[in-house]
Amino acid sequence: MSEAKRLAGEKAIEFVEDGMIVGVGTGSTVAYFIDALGGIRDRIKGAVSSSEQSTARLKQHGIEVLDLNHTGTLSLYVDGADECDPHKRLIKGGGAALTREKIIAEASKQFVCIVDPSKQVPVLGRFPLPVEVIPMARSLVARAILAMTGGQPVWRDGVTTDNGNVVLDIHNLSITDPVAMEREINQIPGVVSVGLFARRPADIVIVGGEPPIVLR
Ligand code: A5P
Repeated sequence: MSEAKRLAGEKAIEFVEDGMIVGVGTGSTVAYFIDALGGIRDRIKGAVSSSEQSTARLKQHGIEVLDLNHTGTLSLYVDGADECDPHKRLIKGGGAALTREKIIAEASKQFVCIVDPSKQVPVLGRFPLPVEVIPMARSLVARAILAMTGGQPVWRDGVTTDNGNVVLDIHNLSITDPVAMEREINQIPGVVSVGLFARRPADIVIVGGEPPIVLR
């Protein structure tokens, strides 16, 4: 799948305009986008990064990494996804960067999501849904999610997010109303964010292939 990821990442460069500050997501697909962004680094003002991992790669390419508090609204955010439904709603957080990704998506006028074809699903939920949780609330949140959704929460043991929190992955879901599930899980005390991007879905999805397909 890495060839499809590369084709999607490189296609997203077409959405970058001169002088932009670009929001940058996290993951192996985004890594291809960052590498391509390095080739036009003199044309952009800089980037806002969603993870330490992406920050390191951006800096390797000589791209300045800026603080979202100083940039204001961004014109463009480019990120991958773990699943994407026909309405451009997403599951994200396989790389544990979901909270910062959600913040940047919210701060951006246009969200371009780059995926390989394996990420496209008719209904979200085959990929375990990541939820970032304050450590002391791990068991409380797991019980609440089990009661609320019937899905099985599994602690991603050994993983600490860039924000110092833990991740629960919710297995065996079939998410027919992702907007409602996003809202309900968000309301559980101790939840920092849920990896459902439904209230603010992607605006454009690029599916990597020969040629890449751009879904608008
Ligand atoms: C990071 O937390 C995730 O949201 C990624 O965007 C997602 O896991 C996609 O990763 P790949 O591009 O590596 O498949």
